[in-house]
Amino acid sequence: MKKKLIAGNWKMNGGLAANDGLVRGLLAGLASAPSCDIAVAVPAPYLAQVQALTAGSPIALASQDVSAHASGAYTGESAAGMLKEFDVRYALVGHSERRQYHGESDAVVAEKARQALALGITPIVCVGETLQERESGHTEAVVKRQLAAVIHVNGHCISEIVVAYEPVWAIGTGRTASPEQAQQVHAVLRAQLAAASAHADRVRLLYGGSMNAANAAELLAQPDIDGGLVGGASLKPEDFLKIIAAAQ
Ligand code: 13P
Repeated sequence: MKKKLIAGNWKMNGGLAANDGLVRGLLAGLASAPSCDIAVAVPAPYLAQVQALTAGSPIALASQDVSAHASGAYTGESAAGMLKEFDVRYALVGHSERRQYHGESDAVVAEKARQALALGITPIVCVGETLQERESGHTEAVVKRQLAAVIHVNGHCISEIVVAYEPVWAIGTGRTASPEQAQQVHAVLRAQLAAASAHADRVRLLYGGSMNAANAAELLAQPDIDGGLVGGASLKPEDFLKIIAAAQ
C-alpha cells in the first residue's frame, strides 16, 4: 500500500525565527520513522533555512510554485533547476491562489508540472472548484478540465505526479468538504488517471481545505484520499503533528 503524504502549505507566512520554532517543534514531536511521508511548502526566501533545518529528517522540502520556463527573462520566478539545488522534493503547481491572483491558466499549470518532472521534482497539482461552480453542478467538469490539461502535456509520466483536490470554498474558511463529498471527487480523479495510465493507483490524491486535527482521520479514512495538503493547521506544530498521526 502506498504511504500517505501530509504536506503543509505555509503560504506567505513565517519568518526566520517563526520557521525555526515551527520546524524544531515538528522534529521534536515526530517519530524517527513516521509511517507517512511529510513535506512543508515554504516561501522561496526560506528554502535554504528550512533545507538546513530538515536535512536528514523525515520532513521533505516543497516549493509553493515553480516557473513554467527553464531559465531566462522571467523576473521574480524560480526555475525547477534552482529549486532542485535546495533539495526541493515537491512543488505545488496550480494552487487556487495562484490561479486566482496570478491568472494561471490550465496550460501554464501543465507546463509548470512538466518543468518540475523534468528535474525530478514531484509536482503536487492542485485542482478544485469554486462555490459557484459547485452550486451550479460543475464540480466534476471543472476538476476534470484542470487535470486533463496536465495529463495532456505530461501523459507519459503522469503516474509520477501528486494531485491535491482543494475545493476553493473550503480553503481557509473552516468549511471542510465532508468525507463523502471529497471521496466522490477523488474517485472521479482516480478514474480519469486510470484512463491515462496503467499505474494510476500509484498516484497520491490529497485533500486540502480546512483540514485540521479534528477532521483529518475521517477524511484520510476514505479509500481514495491518500493524504492532505494543509494550510492554516500546518503553522501550529501540535496540530500538524496530530494530522500526521492520523495518517499512520
Ligand atoms: P487551509 O488548510 O488553511 O484551508 O488551506 C488549504 C490550502 O490551501 C492548502 O494548500
